[in-house]
Amino acid sequence: MREDENKKNGLNKIAKAYIHKLALMLFYAMLFIACQKQEDSGQNRESKGIILGFSQIGAESAWRTCNTRSVRDAAAAAGIQLLFSNAEQKQENQIKAIRSFIAYQVDVIAFVPIVSSGWENVLEEAKEARIPVLVCDRKINIKNDDLYVGYIGTDSTEEGRLAAKFLLKKFEGHKASERPIRIVELSGTEGSSAAIERSAGFRECIENQSGFEIIYSASGDFLRSKGYELMRTLPFDFTEMDALFSHNDGMTLGALDAMKEKGVNPGKDIIIVSIDAEQAAIDALKRGDVNCVIECNPKQGPDIMNLARHLARGESIPRIINMTEQVFYEWDDLSDIPARGY
Ligand code: AHR
Repeated sequence: MREDENKKNGLNKIAKAYIHKLALMLFYAMLFIACQKQEDSGQNRESKGIILGFSQIGAESAWRTCNTRSVRDAAAAAGIQLLFSNAEQKQENQIKAIRSFIAYQVDVIAFVPIVSSGWENVLEEAKEARIPVLVCDRKINIKNDDLYVGYIGTDSTEEGRLAAKFLLKKFEGHKASERPIRIVELSGTEGSSAAIERSAGFRECIENQSGFEIIYSASGDFLRSKGYELMRTLPFDFTEMDALFSHNDGMTLGALDAMKEKGVNPGKDIIIVSIDAEQAAIDALKRGDVNCVIECNPKQGPDIMNLARHLARGESIPRIINMTEQVFYEWDDLSDIPARGY
C-alpha cells in the first residue's frame, strides 16, 4: 500500500513540475509574441510617415520589371509611402520626376540613373531642399560627391571581370600562337554605368592576355530586340567569331534567336557569357545554349526601404552597398537552382 502511495506521490510531483514548466513556456511564448507585435507596430508607425520618391528608368528587361516589383513590394511591406515614376528611358523624365519630388517635399529621393552624367543641377536642388538622395542600381559620375548620400546596387566592374575570367578559363588550353579567340561584345545602354563598367572590367582582364581579341562591340541598349538585330546584321559571318560577351540576358536571348535562325549552335560553336541570371538565361544555360551566367541581383527593394528609414531619421548610411550575387557556370551542378522569380 505504502509503496503504491509513494509511487503515486512521485508521479504527482513529476506531473506538477511538468505542468509548471509548460505554463512557464507558454507565458514566455506569449510575452515574446506580444513584444514582436509591439515592435512591428512601432516600426510601421515610424515608416508610415515616410514618403519616398523613386525614379525608375523604365521596363527594358525582365530584370528591370523584377527590380520595380521589388521596390513596390518592399515599400508596401515597410509602410513607406512610395511616389513611383517611370522615366520611359529618358533622362529628362527622370530630372522632371526628381524636381517634382523636391516640390512635394518628400523625405527621401531614390533614383536609378539611366546614364551616369548630367545630374549636377537637379541634385544641387535636392541638396538645397535638404532632401537626401540615394543612387540605386547604376552609378553616377559627378564632381561633387556630397550631392548624394550613398549607392546601393551591383558591382558592374566586377561583373565584367568575372565574364572575362570565365572566357580565360574556358579557353585555357588555347595556344596564343594560334589565331586569337575572337570576341563579340553586346554592350548595354551607352553612357550607363552598367555598360561602362562591365566593358571596363572585361577589358581589364582580357586586353593584357595574348590570344584574345575583341573584334566587335556594339550597343544593344539592354534590349532583346536589339540583341537579335545586332547579331543578325553582324558585318561578318558567325564562323568568324568564337565567343559572345553580352551585358544582359535580354540581349543574349535575342542573340540566341539570331544564331539559331542561321543554324549556329550557341554554347558550342560560339561560347556565350551573359549577365543578369534571369530564369530564361538559366534555362538556356541548363540546355547548353549559354556557358556562363553572372547574376546581377534586382531584388534591392528591402535594402532601399531600410536605407530610406535611416535617412528619414537623419542618420548616415554606408557610402556603397553592393548586393550579394553569384555566378552560374556550365560545369556547376545546375539541378537545384531555385526559381529565379524574374
Ligand atoms: O542596370 C542593370 C541592368 O539594367 C541589367 O543588367 C539590365 O538587364 C537592366 O536593364
